[in-house]
Amino acid sequence: MTEREQPADGIGVSDLFSLRGKTALVTGGSRGIGLMIARGLVEAGVKVYISSRKKEVCDGAAEALSRVGSCISLPADLSTEAGWTALVAELEAREPALHILINNAGTNWGAEVDEFPAEAFDKVLSLNVKAIFMLTRDLLPLLKAAGSPQDPARVINIGSIDGFKVPFVNNFAYSASKAAVHHLTRVLAVQLGGRHITVNAIAPGPFETKMTEWMLDNYRDRIVEACPLGRIGVPSDMAGTAIFLASRAGAYLNGTVIPVDGGLSCR
Ligand SMILES: NC(=O)c1ccc[n+]([C@@H]2O[C@H](COP(=O)([O-])OP(=O)(O)OC[C@H]3O[C@@H](n4cnc5c(N)ncnc54)[C@H](OP(=O)(O)O)[C@@H]3O)[C@@H](O)[C@H]2O)c1
Repeated sequence: MTEREQPADGIGVSDLFSLRGKTALVTGGSRGIGLMIARGLVEAGVKVYISSRKKEVCDGAAEALSRVGSCISLPADLSTEAGWTALVAELEAREPALHILINNAGTNWGAEVDEFPAEAFDKVLSLNVKAIFMLTRDLLPLLKAAGSPQDPARVINIGSIDGFKVPFVNNFAYSASKAAVHHLTRVLAVQLGGRHITVNAIAPGPFETKMTEWMLDNYRDRIVEACPLGRIGVPSDMAGTAIFLASRAGAYLNGTVIPVDGGLSCR
């Protein structure tokens, strides 16, 4: 290999996926996809804060993850201004910088088209879209403090393949909210790149969680059959993608939406 062909930034392959010494916040980290990501980050040596409404569940998850590494519970209701403001204040009091923000907390509402209520849009859009923007906005000082040109701070929004394909179930507000998450990701990516903060989204396909319990009970065979890989996602699928996006390997991705769905959305 000639001098010109050498990698210019000196990052060895062994460091490409290293997250050691970083700090993260995972919203909705007490169960489901948030917990899958939180566990992966903790195992990778990240100091992870998890947040959700139910204090006992959030505390219990943090306690379990603390046996593996560093995990702290900060309960908050992110659908309210008081909730996200208190969470930001707690983090600011504890950390000088935040390297990774995983905007994962989300909610769903299923009903037939004729009966779909207005309040469903208020509830779902408020948490799935507005809370992502507000929390990101108010955490900008901590994110900016963590980012550098070579290793920017990372905002990772959890969207859904329901945001770019028509879903199996009637979730009008949810699928609209996820399309909004994907586009908000691109808009913020352009806006925040100059501050050394990247913004990307993961669009999960079907994963086994409380949110998908009813859908998988009713449509599991149909979903598995439609998925080119013929299976539901597992925790390492989700953790692996988050670790990639948060690591030096993902430093030049900005404004992307990555489906993690076994190819289901290609149908
Ligand atoms: N599972 C899938 O197959 C799938 C597919 C595509 C996208 N997703 C997305 O992945 C994310 C996580 O979903 P999941 O399947 O893991 O759902 P889940 O099992 O229902 O978990 C949701 C998490 O968010 C928290 N949460 C709910 N409302 C909150 C609020 N107002 N403030 C703060 N935290 C709140 C919940 O804890 P509390 O109830 O204690 O607050 C819980 O920790 C969501 O954005 C979802 O849309 C999931």
